[in-house]
Amino acid sequence: MLYDKEKFKKALTKQKLNFIYNHIKDISNIKILELGVREGLSTSLFLEVCEKNNGNLISIDINDCGKLFENAKWNFIHSSDDNFEMINEQILKIGELDVIYIDSLHKDFHVKKVLYNYYNFLKKGGYVFLDDVSWLPYAKSAELENKISNFNDNQKIFKKILEIKFTNSDNFDLEFCFENSGTAKIVKKNFEKLKEPKKVTKILSITEIFKNILENFFSKS
Ligand SMILES: C[S@@+](CC[C@H](N)C(=O)[O-])C[C@H]1O[C@@H](n2cnc3c(N)ncnc32)[C@H](O)[C@@H]1O
Repeated sequence: MLYDKEKFKKALTKQKLNFIYNHIKDISNIKILELGVREGLSTSLFLEVCEKNNGNLISIDINDCGKLFENAKWNFIHSSDDNFEMINEQILKIGELDVIYIDSLHKDFHVKKVLYNYYNFLKKGGYVFLDDVSWLPYAKSAELENKISNFNDNQKIFKKILEIKFTNSDNFDLEFCFENSGTAKIVKKNFEKLKEPKKVTKILSITEIFKNILENFFSKS
């Protein structure tokens, strides 16, 4: 099948995928790179857009998901997504990317690594969406409190994205969607190479330290 209509509908019920869809649904001749396929929910969403807008989708997964769809607009690559030499070559064949979706290995070091490679292939004005940046669903008393969770990983990915923004503030715009497990949206503003991230710290002045102590002392919640 070209894509799975049921999976496409299911994808749209997830607010975080709906958030992505609303940004990309009208891009003509769209070129998408997707890292992480699993059962193909996001893949169905992207293929629907490619079908409608004459686009191309490259999807990567370490598991073989290549039998999910038969679609000339889809190139599935069965590989780890940090196999850069081989994957970069495939991207060059379709040209500059409009959209990159990072939803594979949810570790901050991995997300950083793949972002820094594939960002070089993104158009000016193009989007990078990064999945799993919120830990709210897994917090104490939250809906998924008892689920083996990505609490720590999502916190680390969120922090890493801020560290990347800190040294690249003029190079891309950044927004967050906090629905479900969260999605970060990057919009590329220029062709500058991404600078290395930097920890976000602050040395407080004596006045600020006193102000904080007083505020903490008198705060009720
Ligand atoms: C959360 S699932 C993807 C879900 C999919 N994007 C969706 O919304 O329907 C993560 C997928 O990433 C794959 N994966 C994990 N590490 C990977 C890596 N280093 N390279 C490529 N794929 C990887 C897993 O096999 C899994 O299928």
